[in-house]
Amino acid sequence: MTRLSPTGRKALLTLHLVTALGWLGTDLVLLTLGVAGLRGADPDVVYPTAGLLVTYLFAPLSVAVWLVGVASALLTPWGLLRWRWVLVKLVLTTVMLGLVLLLLTPRIRHLGALGGAASPHLRVDLVVPPAVSSTLLLVATVLSTYKPWGRLRPAAPTSRRAAPQRPGHPDGQRPAVEDPAGRRA
Ligand code: HEM
Repeated sequence: MTRLSPTGRKALLTLHLVTALGWLGTDLVLLTLGVAGLRGADPDVVYPTAGLLVTYLFAPLSVAVWLVGVASALLTPWGLLRWRWVLVKLVLTTVMLGLVLLLLTPRIRHLGALGGAASPHLRVDLVVPPAVSSTLLLVATVLSTYKPWGRLRPAAPTSRRAAPQRPGHPDGQRPAVEDPAGRRA
């Protein structure tokens, strides 16, 4: 698989962080609107706003996060199916993407169209799913920074001269130094 230059990798990582953490932020805003709706805020403002947010920000960001996340894995030494933390994030994000596109988006749009006429049962849709998904995205963020659980398969032998082992590093061989672009390459 093609590898990126250090500058390209930084740009892709920036895009990954902006989209993924923007997704988490939007999710927290949806949760806030859901709680506001249950606490008596004007439903004709809260629910249409949530409908717009889901349609124009949350759902598109879900797709962007998945695409940029997969690219961040395939175009770097991490790979998509080499490290457990990457695989778990892939599964988590894929499940979330499906739920967002197939369930959450249509339901919140429906809620937005109903506004004040929405039943209490429907209003809970803007509290429980965003609470669960925000928690999952926080888990994904923690996995990304701690990178736990090591490799899925042992690293292929390399011809490089022996360098200190660094567990958790994508190629398992290079020392814990950053490349000139400031990324662990
Ligand atoms: C398809 C799903 C995803 C995949 C395959 C994926 C993969 C990756 C990879 C390979 C990196 C390392 C990039 C590099 O070193 O240049 C990374 C970094 C990161 N990802 Fe993801 N990611 C996904 C989704 C997410 C989500 C949903 C979040 C959080 C909401 C997230 C948060 C982060 C963070 C904070 C980093 C920076 C970690 C660091 O530089 O130490 N990712 N991701």
